[in-house]
Amino acid sequence: MAENVPLHLAGNNAPVAEEVTLEPAKVVGEIPAELSGQFFRNGPNPRTGWSPHSFASDGMIHTVALDGGRARWYRNRYVRTPLYENPGVSRFALAFDPETSRIDYRVTTANTHLIAHAGRLFALEEGGFPYEVTPDLATIGAYTFDGALRTPMTAHPKTCPITGELLFFGYRLRPPYLTYYRADAAGKVAQTRAIDMPRATMMHDFAVTRDHVIFLDLPVVFDAAQAAAGGPPWRWDDGHRARFGVLPRTAGDDAPVRWYDIAPCYVWHTMNAFEDPATGIITVTGTRVPSLWRGGPEDVGGGLPTLYRWTLDPRTGTVAEAPIDDAPSEFPRVADNAIGLPHRYGYTASFALEAEPERSEIYAYDLADGGVRAVHRFPAGHTCGEAVFVARDGTAENDGYLMTFVHDRATDRSYLAILNAADPAAPPLAEVHVPVRVPAGFHGNWIPA
Ligand SMILES: [Fe+2]
Repeated sequence: MAENVPLHLAGNNAPVAEEVTLEPAKVVGEIPAELSGQFFRNGPNPRTGWSPHSFASDGMIHTVALDGGRARWYRNRYVRTPLYENPGVSRFALAFDPETSRIDYRVTTANTHLIAHAGRLFALEEGGFPYEVTPDLATIGAYTFDGALRTPMTAHPKTCPITGELLFFGYRLRPPYLTYYRADAAGKVAQTRAIDMPRATMMHDFAVTRDHVIFLDLPVVFDAAQAAAGGPPWRWDDGHRARFGVLPRTAGDDAPVRWYDIAPCYVWHTMNAFEDPATGIITVTGTRVPSLWRGGPEDVGGGLPTLYRWTLDPRTGTVAEAPIDDAPSEFPRVADNAIGLPHRYGYTASFALEAEPERSEIYAYDLADGGVRAVHRFPAGHTCGEAVFVARDGTAENDGYLMTFVHDRATDRSYLAILNAADPAAPPLAEVHVPVRVPAGFHGNWIPA
């Protein structure tokens, strides 16, 4: 029977049934006393116990509150979306109004990420509006930036550490296929710009620099006929050119996007981007696969994601590209105060196709030294997720912590691991053991109190 369970519901990918609020079972090591706030992690957790794909599963947020060297509580809650409220009803049926042909972007799983902006917390998923939640994980509701958001919103917006602006985009299946937004530090949308695109392509992430945003137009295209026939909406298209589009962050409506052709690939996540003010050269890093779903939705023949670098030269219009590492990894992150700026360090989690890989590691890259990889290896049977960098007050870029939920297969329980980011190979500074299992998930953040 177990062998019939699909990968996205197997092992620690299986959903949990209960919403709980519990005190931690135990703490191993010492929680840094300066950490006061909450670690949040979003992820898929189908309410019915089944979904056709992790992307279609209801969003559940898990949080651990830390204060003064103590772990206060753990809590998990679903995001109360229309999909959660109507279990088993199709997303299309809930979202699409056949009378008006309108799509209701409140219909979303909200299962991908959690961010804070302008004093609000948002659960995000790229097919719909953000959902505002409270620190206690009560759902407030869909959020549209006072009506300024007219499209879905990416789950990977970027907060500029210099201006405090929230830079983001929305992509969708009908024109305009791509829309760029810039919200100020107070949360007011200051700019909306439709980007001319020939078709809808699946755009999970983007990148920003101090002065530009970079869109990833890659060969995973929307196929309406395939979707109407009950197949997956997205497919690889060898005929679609892979390209990065560079737009000045504050561009007016007439400023063109400058497109740079790159070798065909798919990039779920960028690590970061930055520009050289003297030459205008833009460096983009991210986790790359050479292809995705080329032979159908089960095809992973494109290989596993690895960390990669593209260098865009505006003087020639050309791109130099090369791998940084050949070890499979995903969920790249940098320090929040390095987003869009030249940076030395970046972090990923090892990647394997098993639900509970035998080896699970955090990689800390020193990019100034050619991409040297420091490794934190968790014990056998322990599986980690995305490593979130949490800054200390110090000035060094890597002065801080890495936080991730880890599942222990032997006990079927989970813990929040807190690593020293400057010494990632060392044992965790602390493990906050929660008395339940935290399923594998997508992205999250540390939000100071
Ligand atoms: Fe993502």
